[in-house]
Amino acid sequence: MDCDWDTERASDETIREIMRVSEHQIIWGGNYYDLPPTRGIVCWNKLQSWENFSQWEMAWTSYNCPAVMITVSNTGGANKETKIHPTQKSVAMYKELLRRFAKPGDVIFDPYMGSQSLRIACYDMGFDFYGCERNALFFETGCKWFEEHKTKAEEIREKGYASTALERINPVFEFN
Ligand SMILES: C[S@@+](CC[C@H](N)C(=O)[O-])C[C@H]1O[C@@H](n2cnc3c(N)ncnc32)[C@H](O)[C@@H]1O
Repeated sequence: MDCDWDTERASDETIREIMRVSEHQIIWGGNYYDLPPTRGIVCWNKLQSWENFSQWEMAWTSYNCPAVMITVSNTGGANKETKIHPTQKSVAMYKELLRRFAKPGDVIFDPYMGSQSLRIACYDMGFDFYGCERNALFFETGCKWFEEHKTKAEEIREKGYASTALERINPVFEFN
């Protein structure tokens, strides 16, 4: 499997460019970068019970706000979301992040989409979203997950239930 998501950090030039084109930034793994001092750091408590895995992750943000704690499990039992990416963050965690930081009308850009869980969180919360992903397999699988989620949400809005997903579980055969 392609493991470059973990070994290759974004270049200083990339970070500078992200700062240049955006009003605010939230940078996961900000502890690996030479970023300016900030009040608004985020601690994501992953409720990880195994000590040989990271117990929490840190994000640097450009927001001048009190430090934020987000407690959302990222482990199997408590998180039943589709798993696409080895370092996938959950939709629930991204929704909490958006709730704490984003304002109505904000446009969200994720240059490292991975599974596209942030895209799903933005769709559910009504934020316009743009993103990039260079790995073709992650990109295609993420798009499929997003489209399925969107179909389900539209069907629930229109009919009150997710007919496509339901038909997959309980197919209705018509005999002529
Ligand atoms: C840490 S993962 C992101 C995981 C994502 N936040 C999630 O929750 O699924 C980083 C992703 O960025 C992609 N990536 C790395 N460098 C990139 C680049 N220069 N342009 C676009 N995507 C890139 C990798 O293929 C990987 O899928």
